[in-house]
Amino acid sequence: MRKKFKRAFIIVLDSLGAGECPDSALFGDAGASTLGSLFRTGRLNIPNLISMGIGNIEGLSYLGKVNNPTAAYGRMAERSNGKDTTLGHWEIAGLISKNPFPTYPNGFPPEIIEAFEEATGRKVLCNKPYSGTDVIRDYGEEHMRSGDLIVYTSADSVFQIAAHEDIVPPEKLYEYCSIARKILMGEHSVGRVIARPFIGEAGSFKRTANRRDFSVEPWGKTMLDALREGEKDVLAVGKISDIFAGCGISEKFITHGNGEGMEMALKLAERDFNGLCFVNLVDFDSVYGHRNDAVGYAEALNAFDAFLPEFVAKLCDDDMLIITADHGCDPGDVSTDHTREYVPLLVYGKKIEPRDLGTRAQFSDVARTVTDALDVEFECEGKNFFDISDAELMMLAEKARENAYCPYSDFAVGAALLTKSGKVYLGCNIENASFSPTVCAERTAIFSAVADGERDFAKIAVCGGKKGEKPNKICTPCGVCRQVMSEFCSPNLPVLLGGSEIGTERHSLSSLLPMSFDMK
Ligand code: THU
Repeated sequence: MRKKFKRAFIIVLDSLGAGECPDSALFGDAGASTLGSLFRTGRLNIPNLISMGIGNIEGLSYLGKVNNPTAAYGRMAERSNGKDTTLGHWEIAGLISKNPFPTYPNGFPPEIIEAFEEATGRKVLCNKPYSGTDVIRDYGEEHMRSGDLIVYTSADSVFQIAAHEDIVPPEKLYEYCSIARKILMGEHSVGRVIARPFIGEAGSFKRTANRRDFSVEPWGKTMLDALREGEKDVLAVGKISDIFAGCGISEKFITHGNGEGMEMALKLAERDFNGLCFVNLVDFDSVYGHRNDAVGYAEALNAFDAFLPEFVAKLCDDDMLIITADHGCDPGDVSTDHTREYVPLLVYGKKIEPRDLGTRAQFSDVARTVTDALDVEFECEGKNFFDISDAELMMLAEKARENAYCPYSDFAVGAALLTKSGKVYLGCNIENASFSPTVCAERTAIFSAVADGERDFAKIAVCGGKKGEKPNKICTPCGVCRQVMSEFCSPNLPVLLGGSEIGTERHSLSSLLPMSFDMK
């Protein structure tokens, strides 16, 4: 039970990396920084992203820090073994992939080709990595003579089938692609099967616009499936539907380029829906990143920045906006490939408290946060951005301790109580000249939460010691406070004892007070 939201928007700025991460070198990308390269063009003009807090993200201070960012901000590392669009988006949606998609520098193995030939009744030509235009020039005539299918791949995880439209009509070619898609399973689950129809005469063959992609379905359940099961809308803009092979999507909006994508996002922000609107803006990657066009990339980001105020103005009180990326594609490095980098993270909403979300260990923290926010059950390895760690709760208890009123004992105690709705109530001990009215820190926190209508508690942190000094040993709650806790809290309520200097011990309420008094 946390703050509930009606709509979540995720906007993926495709390939906007936020700098080198600990395993960049393993991917051949030591020192990569997509945002860094954009900044070095001198052309970046992104005042809205800066006021949200993009420059407050660790490692991005060169963009310009602000004192009061309007969004919660952080960066995320990828855990999946890859740096492609599909794995990046799947991880955002809660699926962490240990295996990259298979590639075939020597062509597809005989068992795949034989199964494909058997199922289609046609033989296969080529079967190696090839350029799409060269392959029809070199194999087109033979294909027209024999009716055999031209199968080729590239450095990417693709199984491509080229055929002349007069020999194999596009509809038939799509059928062959579906057959290939079914054969390419398990270790051979390539990222996409692509139909590549062409027309014309030998010597002047030309590819047509009838290309069609058959993406691999996510290998496990994603947050999109969970949202659909929870009867939420899942609106997919741009490449999103293709990336998830249509799985878990209630409505798709195919757009071409960033401009159309942003326009569609604006339209959907005006729509009354319940659930997720998942947007991919592809130009950053396909038009600028892969072409090493840093200036074009910077200007495209400026255009996104200029779109933000209008978009944000359309958000309602119960909306959450997440802006992030799926991988890097540093236009400043020699290669035109993707780069393994952190991705930036901005989380904005009227109900979102701007704060530092730190460096997240996986993109799936998005899935965890979004499904929690929309109140949908979903198992994944992500952590909610707004969960408060034991150490953070203890720091809040220490802060509360500064308010202790303890002139008689000189013993200051602080408590921080986290409710299941995500709020924190603070308490300190408050003494009295007649001694007995003294109230302990834990009870101050619990009573103020109860007075505020909160009775579901997630955990409590307590620290105490000589006033004006950092606690040098744990302060255990008194018997009365334990009894009060047992009135409102479950026996396994975590009770955190310690302090920032001495560390935090985790106990359970039942271990502190077995056999509490109970009239029931
Ligand atoms: N105190 C607490 O605040 N919490 C406890 O659980 C134990 C005791 C305070 C009460 C009093 O002001 C001071 O510590 C010394 O007893």
